[in-house]
Formats: sequence, structure tokens, C-alpha cells
Amino acid sequence: MSVRQLQEEILKLKKEKNVGILAHSYQSSDILEIADLRGDSFALSEKARDLPYDTVILCGVRFMADTVKILSPEKKVILPCPEATCPMAEQIPPERVIAYKKEHPDHRVVAYVNTTTELKAVSDVCVTSSSAQKIVERLDADTILFLPDQNLGAYIREKVPSKQVILWDGYCPVHNQITEDDVLDAKALHPGCRVLMHPECPAAALRHADLIGSTADIIRDCESTQDDVIIGTEKSVGDYLSLCHPKRNFHLLSKKLICPDMRLTTLAHVYKALLGTGGEVIEIEESLRRKARRAIDEMIRLGK
Ligand code: 13P
Ligand code: SF4
Repeated sequence: MSVRQLQEEILKLKKEKNVGILAHSYQSSDILEIADLRGDSFALSEKARDLPYDTVILCGVRFMADTVKILSPEKKVILPCPEATCPMAEQIPPERVIAYKKEHPDHRVVAYVNTTTELKAVSDVCVTSSSAQKIVERLDADTILFLPDQNLGAYIREKVPSKQVILWDGYCPVHNQITEDDVLDAKALHPGCRVLMHPECPAAALRHADLIGSTADIIRDCESTQDDVIIGTEKSVGDYLSLCHPKRNFHLLSKKLICPDMRLTTLAHVYKALLGTGGEVIEIEESLRRKARRAIDEMIRLGK
């Protein structure tokens, strides 16, 4: 079957079965094209609650499907490729955070949404890259342990000097590879282009960015101008923008910006998940879900 035929089969089947397809912006364009909802990890999980589907297929990585399930327990949530995980989300065992909290009861634990459900359950509040600054500013504590991404944490520490932000040593293996020279080389290759970067990149590289923001912030910025730009986040963001705006150039900052886990899910996985012959139905034990939900609800409350 060609890509187009497979897309048509999927669209037909999902309509028959009334299934919603959610795709993170880092998914390939052939998946983004057939999705009912595209967006960053938080937008997907929050908007999924209001979608008129009892079953949703989440094309992305495991923590994203888990977050949808935490917020919409009544929905059947399917991760089409169960091997797709975010290595950063797995970097901290929750026991270490429990021990830290015992030693520092007056500190607040802030967890990036790229974390396991178990880690969310022992954290005080979750944040996304777009809401982290506001939430850290508003938290009722002077000292904050920021998990797990040291680059996003360092960026927030600089933005909120009134708080003491303690960093963990986690990182995104994709964005963390970007160096200052990568940015300078891209700027030399595409003179005059603005550089839009994700805060998961190291500080030395971020120094040269014109905009530092979440996947959604980067896309919004691109949609608001007609300019050619340099994209400093996962390759698929630029690929899909190029498809939507064929006359413009979205230059990838570095060929290193490809997330292997985000590449795992294919149209064939989505098709099998729809047929009921593939994918994993997400199950979360109820008391764990409720604890993790508290941190996400707190994020929604403080992030408004
Ligand atoms: P967003 O929260 O912007 O969707 O980012 C998720 C991610 O995995 C970034 O690398
Ligand atoms: Fe995780 Fe990085 Fe891939 Fe995002 S790009 S899913 S943070 S490994």
C-alpha cells in the first residue's frame, strides 16, 4: 500500500470506529497530516479531554500517552508503538526524590512533564517548557528542585533570579548535543535568519537564539511571520512547517536534531492500533494516577 492509500484506510477506519488520533509535533508529516489534533505534549493531553472520542491513539512517546490517561481516565488511550519512550523521562528513580523531600521538607519539587507517572506522583507540580517560568515564579517556596532537565532548569534559574533553583543532572540526549558552534555555523550558512530554539539545548548554544521556547512557541512564532528561519528543535517541526508553507525555508539548526524515539511510530503502527492488532492500551493504577494528577492539576492552576 502507498502512503496515501494507507492514510486513506486509516481515515476511513477511524471514522467508522470513532477514534481520535493525536500527534505530537515531533511526529513525521504523514502522521501529522491525518491527526485530529497536533501540538506539544501538554496541549495534546489537555485538549484530549474535550475531544468527542472514547478512544484516542497517541502518536508520540510513552509519557505523553500516560499524561493523556492521567487527565482522561475514562478514555481508552493507545500508544501505537509501545517501544517509543523518552530517555529523559526515565532518568530519575522516584525513590531518590522521596529521599530528597525527607531531607528538604521546605523545598518544592518541580517536574518537567517529560517524566514517568511515578515521578510525577512524588513531585509537587509539573511544568512544560512554555509554563515553567510562570509556575516557578508563582510557587510558594524560595527553593526549588527542578527535575530532570538541567538545561531547561538552568534557563529557568536565569529567568527567575529571586528563587533558588537546584538542578538535577538529567538532559534530553537529542537537544543536549547542540553546541555553540552548531548555532554559529547555522547562522553563517543562513545569514539573516532568526534562530528559534528549544530550552532543552545547553546554555552556551541558547545564548545565540532569537527565541527560546517550547515546540508550540516555535511553531506559533513561525506562523506569525513570512520569514525563513533556523529551527533549533526536532527535525519534524521544520518538515511539517515546510509542507504547510512550501514557499518558505525552515532550516534545521543541526542534523543531530532527530529524536530516534519519535521516529519509531509509523502509519503502519497507527493502522494496527485501529484494527486492534497492535499498540498498547495504557493502564495506570488508580491511586498512582490520582497522585500524578495532583501535580498536573497544580500545573494547570499555576500556569493560567
Ligand atoms: P514539548 O513539551 O514542547 O511538546 O516538548 C516535548 C519534548 O519532548 C521536547 O523534546
Ligand atoms: Fe525525549 Fe528529547 Fe526525544 Fe523530546 S526530543 S522525546 S525530550 S529524547
